[in-house]
Amino acid sequence: MIALSIADLSVTFQNRGKGYAAVRGASLEVAEGETFGLIGPSGCRKTTILRAVAGLNTNWQGSITVFGNALTPGQKITGAQRDNIQMVFQDPYSSLHPRHRISRILGEPLAIRRVAGATQRVRDLLNQVGLPQAAADRYPHQLSGGQRQRVAIARALLLEPRLLLLDEPTSALDVSVQAEILNLLNELKTTNRMTLALVSHDPGVVAHMCDRAVLMESGRVAAELDRPNIAKIYAQSQS
Ligand SMILES: Nc1ncnc2c1ncn2[C@@H]1O[C@H](COP(=O)(O)OP(=O)(O)OP(=O)(O)O)[C@@H](O)[C@H]1O
Ligand SMILES: [Mg+2]
Repeated sequence: MIALSIADLSVTFQNRGKGYAAVRGASLEVAEGETFGLIGPSGCRKTTILRAVAGLNTNWQGSITVFGNALTPGQKITGAQRDNIQMVFQDPYSSLHPRHRISRILGEPLAIRRVAGATQRVRDLLNQVGLPQAAADRYPHQLSGGQRQRVAIARALLLEPRLLLLDEPTSALDVSVQAEILNLLNELKTTNRMTLALVSHDPGVVAHMCDRAVLMESGRVAAELDRPNIAKIYAQSQS
């Protein structure tokens, strides 16, 4: 099954009343169970594509289909489709509410949906992402950067998404913590049967994680990369 299909996607930004195409004619396809990379230099619109898929920006044309269901431009994603697609952002600090304890950050989305057994679910999630139960009583600033990113990942997993969008999930972290988080994501992908779409500018991260990738340049897909191509780019970055 195709997890994510993007065809001829254009995303338009407004600047002083004028629209300009930030993404032009981008197409890609991600199979279920894959880890798919979006790579390319800063500003090439990698985040912009993920935000469109997540429904955070609905100002696009073309087609975006997630597990066979087409998103509609200009409309919020709703219902089961909403829960299917979750995103983890680069900076875990700004994406977590600074004055809410972790128990509330993780518990609230469940409470809103009246999910039964929410307390136990939060306990299980902390366990799943490798955090001690005591983390529930802490505020984000009382955790390390790596622990905060684990909370952000736990929050993304709350509603059991099938497609997890990861925007530079480790680039704000110490090198020593990066590998731990990447390995955690790989484990969770298997146990939760997810498909991952990963944005990164780090060839090492892409080589470690991705089955396939696209290389972006100025809002366009410049090349499709298979494993050998990804390995080649990594080797070039090391030389
Ligand atoms: N809502 C918006 N309106 C206008 N311009 C925007 C908007 N969002 C992003 N941009 C512009 O798009 C460009 C960056 O796009 P994007 O963030 O998708 O790139 P990126 O590939 O993720 O870059 P990086 O690797 O630095 O994160 C910047 O020039 C930014 O100013
Ligand atoms: Mg970005």
